[in-house]
Amino acid sequence: MRHWAVWTVLLLGGLVAVAVAGGRSEKNDPAVARTRKTVRMLDDIYKTAVVLITKHYVNDESDLPAGSAAIALFAAIKDKGWHEVRLLDATGEPMEEANLPRDEFEKSAVAALKSGKSYYEQVVVKNGRRYLRAATPLPVVMKKCTMCHPHYESYKKGEPIGALSYTLPIE
Ligand code: HEC
Repeated sequence: MRHWAVWTVLLLGGLVAVAVAGGRSEKNDPAVARTRKTVRMLDDIYKTAVVLITKHYVNDESDLPAGSAAIALFAAIKDKGWHEVRLLDATGEPMEEANLPRDEFEKSAVAALKSGKSYYEQVVVKNGRRYLRAATPLPVVMKKCTMCHPHYESYKKGEPIGALSYTLPIE
């Protein structure tokens, strides 16, 4: 083979390899799929717990809100080294400023969820380790929520007023 032909073959081969590796990191990577499934499970557990606590234990404004209990739970889970979860505000009027979307991922995620998406994710690399960042919407699930968050009343059923923002190591 002539030189130019060898170089062309090498170059095309390299491009295909890069395309395969690039595609793999998102859609077809089984490790990402497993992590995504764990997010789905955690999301059901956390949201079910918040709804059950609110339904059975939160009766007036002086009771400990399920949101505050969830934030304490999330801190304990992070301390134990499992994963990170943040309870985010999507209305621009949070009870606590700390619950506003913080970085680029959280801001883009809240914008996507508010526009009607049911899920938003991104694979990131930190200190050589891959993480799945994922966000799911939090609608006003019951009338009781408006007892402490009166501005939720102006939101339509199913419209997100908040989100859960996850960061899980991809193993
Ligand atoms: C008893 C009062 C109370 C009730 C009822 C309540 N919350 Fe909250 N919520 C709070 C407080 C206080 C915080 C701030 C917690 C913190 O940051 O420590 C909060 C935080 C939040 C946040 C994070 C954004 C923010 O405003 O700081 C969301 C989202 C949220 N609540 C949604 C809900 C939903 C959905 C319901 C109904 C299932 C609900 N809340 C019911 C008091 C309440």
